[in-house]
Amino acid sequence: MTSWLIGLRDWVDDRLPIMRAWNTHMGQYYAPKNFNFWYFFGVLSLLVLVNQLLTGIWLTMFYTPTAEGAFASVEYIMRDIDYGWIIRYMHSTGASAFFAVVYLHMFRGLLYGSYKKPRELVWLFGMLIYLCLMAEGFMGYVLPWGQMSYWGAQVIVSLFGAIPVVGESIVQWVRGDFLISGATLNRFFALHVVAIPLILVMLVVLHLLALHEVGSNNPDGIEIKKNKGANGKPLDGIPFHPYYTVHDLVGIAVFLFVFCFILFFMPEMGGYFLEYANFEEANPLKTPAHIAPVWYYTPFYAMLRATTLELFGLPAKFWGFMVMAGAIAIMFVLPWLDRSKVKSWRYKGMGTKVALYSFAISFLVLGYLGAIPSGGLFLANVIPHHIEWLTNQGVTQTLTVVYFLFFLLMPIYTSIEKTKPEPQRVTMK
Ligand code: HEM
Repeated sequence: MTSWLIGLRDWVDDRLPIMRAWNTHMGQYYAPKNFNFWYFFGVLSLLVLVNQLLTGIWLTMFYTPTAEGAFASVEYIMRDIDYGWIIRYMHSTGASAFFAVVYLHMFRGLLYGSYKKPRELVWLFGMLIYLCLMAEGFMGYVLPWGQMSYWGAQVIVSLFGAIPVVGESIVQWVRGDFLISGATLNRFFALHVVAIPLILVMLVVLHLLALHEVGSNNPDGIEIKKNKGANGKPLDGIPFHPYYTVHDLVGIAVFLFVFCFILFFMPEMGGYFLEYANFEEANPLKTPAHIAPVWYYTPFYAMLRATTLELFGLPAKFWGFMVMAGAIAIMFVLPWLDRSKVKSWRYKGMGTKVALYSFAISFLVLGYLGAIPSGGLFLANVIPHHIEWLTNQGVTQTLTVVYFLFFLLMPIYTSIEKTKPEPQRVTMK
């Protein structure tokens, strides 16, 4: 570094401890040396977050947040603005990529028990991030003002109407009108481009501060801080910079290959990333034949739609809403449901393994079921027609129960199963 740059750095450092911050979080942050494939998704989430913020700012320069102008302004961005199409596709593909990497990031947490003591707060901040992401994605999808934007908003906002007594008033307050209209679009725009991104960025900072306070977990689920060398540094740790910064570049390069392939060759992903009905302008007088949310919400949408309970005089819609909200809420208490002595599934018993596989399969199949029409036979082309009880709805209800049992039975199977002894030091394959 040239001397004037060093001088400038020291001048700032005397007033704002940038070198201390760098050392705490990068140069002297000791991360376990056995990070594997699953540990790429944190940094990839950060990368996609930056992509969303930057492309979002550029889109905002040309987008018109009114019911009259929104759809046309997106077409204008796609056709007339220089490089508008790539910025828009980077943002829309980025939304799906965000959920893909975040789901894998969360699953890693399940595999290695990263939510357990002392990382409960890391998990809780993560869950708040996930909630914000869901709200952010939903409101973002309303902005192009296509048919799915409009009718998706109609379905989701009207869900609040299922709340007894105050439901309808809440719906009206959220919409800002007696129907989904330009007023709704306007406020969703404000929330999507200012309020939620601000909260999201703050939560990500808190997520990382909480993580760096206790240190990263690893695939063996053992605490590297328990084994320190004479210099006071963990024997199984390596400085994040330069080791993991360079290591993560490999993951970033591979991710960018996949991302760019989708961006250039299949940005709509067969209607899963951008639904075909959304290329038609919103029309309050024409309901689309099949309203389905984007893929990352479909597991929860399937649970909502398949709830047919009518209890205590409350309609099925209310219980569907409760099941859907419960499916997300229960993830918040995960750190207190797992009673195992060990963290990583490598050393947990059969109960955890069966539960984890069942949970993952049920989540994926629920995702598929939420994307297809609710009527009809499950996998109608494959399953013989005489097994008529195997309807889409029946399978969705069964898998919803499996989803909840994974969490509800966790205190039992994690405390009674036989675990393997954890190693003293991290293992390298
Ligand atoms: C914008 C979204 C997110 C970003 C940018 C982000 C970023 C990160 C980063 C950079 C790390 C450290 C590197 C790594 O361990 O992979 C991390 C760790 C972690 N994150 Fe996230 N995260 C996000 C969302 C979430 C969500 C939704 C959850 C779960 C609900 C979560 C749970 C965790 C946990 C438990 C760890 C510690 C993992 C360990 O030490 O094994 N994160 N996050």
